[in-house]
Amino acid sequence: MSSIISQPNASTTQVVRPARSFQGSVTVPGDKSISHRYAMLAGLAEGTTRLSNFSTGADPHSTLSCMEALGAKVTKDGTAVEVTGTAGAFQQPTSELDCGNSGSTMRMLAGLIAPHPHTFTMIGDHSLTMRPMERIRKPLSAMGARIDLVDGHAPMTIHGGPLKAIDFDTPIPSAQVKTAVLFAGLQAEGTTSLSEAVRTRDHSEHALKAFGASLTRTGERLSIAGGQKLKAIEATVPGDISSAAFFLCAALLFPDSNLVLDSLGMNPTRAALLDVITTLGGKIKVLMVEEHNGETIGTIQVNRSPEGLKGAEITGALSAQLIDELPVLAAIAPYTRDGIVIRDAKELRIKESDRIALVAKNLKAMGAELTEFEDGLIVPGNQQLHGAEIDSGSDHRIAMAFAIAALRASSENVIHGAEAAAISFPEFFTFLEDLSKR
Ligand code: S3P
Repeated sequence: MSSIISQPNASTTQVVRPARSFQGSVTVPGDKSISHRYAMLAGLAEGTTRLSNFSTGADPHSTLSCMEALGAKVTKDGTAVEVTGTAGAFQQPTSELDCGNSGSTMRMLAGLIAPHPHTFTMIGDHSLTMRPMERIRKPLSAMGARIDLVDGHAPMTIHGGPLKAIDFDTPIPSAQVKTAVLFAGLQAEGTTSLSEAVRTRDHSEHALKAFGASLTRTGERLSIAGGQKLKAIEATVPGDISSAAFFLCAALLFPDSNLVLDSLGMNPTRAALLDVITTLGGKIKVLMVEEHNGETIGTIQVNRSPEGLKGAEITGALSAQLIDELPVLAAIAPYTRDGIVIRDAKELRIKESDRIALVAKNLKAMGAELTEFEDGLIVPGNQQLHGAEIDSGSDHRIAMAFAIAALRASSENVIHGAEAAAISFPEFFTFLEDLSKR
């Protein structure tokens, strides 16, 4: 057995110079959330699943490694990934399941493996070891799993075995918790049902159906019968809208921006950002849209409206739906006319970093005024920022958000811990250079 904390990469810095415009056409890598789910269900299914445009981010590759440790056979050829599943019978891993930086891997996989009669120990890096895991222990324990945590955190040991269905109301808006319950429910005795206080991303529901499971939704209640078997699929992973978010926000910063994004995932439970971009003063033209395995994929063109940028208030359910996009929205808020209000987003404090604190710290370093709350930020508009030393906190979305803020600053920014971008979007800084016009 190795150490109980997986090791981070060495820190690298990136200098980002101000730009004069933002233009071009880009295909962002495959969606991180969907890649995780396809990889996990493929590992459980019978047969060989063929995935194209699999995420290039480190996180979904942590999931693939875990699937191999559980007995699936994984082959990779660029972004084409084949997973030969275990036909419903995961093996006893010979070492810990290393989830790296990935909360999605640890939480969703916990639900998938808990019904199997083995002992699994899941570990992660320093950041993941700080993140709350009680939220999945609670429902999985109610189903009969025995889970050991250290003060509510990883390392997590699951003593797996047969589970019983439950009726569960998710107290916090979390697609990861919902998924853990659905994945466990798929393999439990009886029919598991679940309702969400706030409707979160529904990739798991679509992925389960694509792999042949049936689940039903009655109003806000989802139900899944246990004992269902999955069959391998062929699928293309749509482009990640949470990665595209950085470029969508960059396109708002310049009067003559022109950005085309193709093969973009536009699942309605993920696409609230497009409405916010429009509210702020972006013009979005949908050039093409189609559906695969329940997921909406499209090509869009984004320009800035001639009236310039207004402001936005993001509160309530919208904050939960935009949770991964909030750092970049906050980072461009000073360049809007009326600023951006973000409230009801306290989950941001327990992501890969405390994203509220780090956004506030880095915006202040760039000369911005703002007010920080336990559950969000108010960032006034009409502020000119200057270059600064940016602390990513080893958090991919903070590194990328401030690379975007840097495009409109009066001088260059130095992003420390820029390598974190590779967690979800390793090509980010290369694409940013191509699209930024100087
Ligand atoms: C994710 C759900 C969200 C999100 C994360 C990916 C998913 O987390 O922040 O990046 O793929 O289900 P929570 O479930 O903790 O809100």
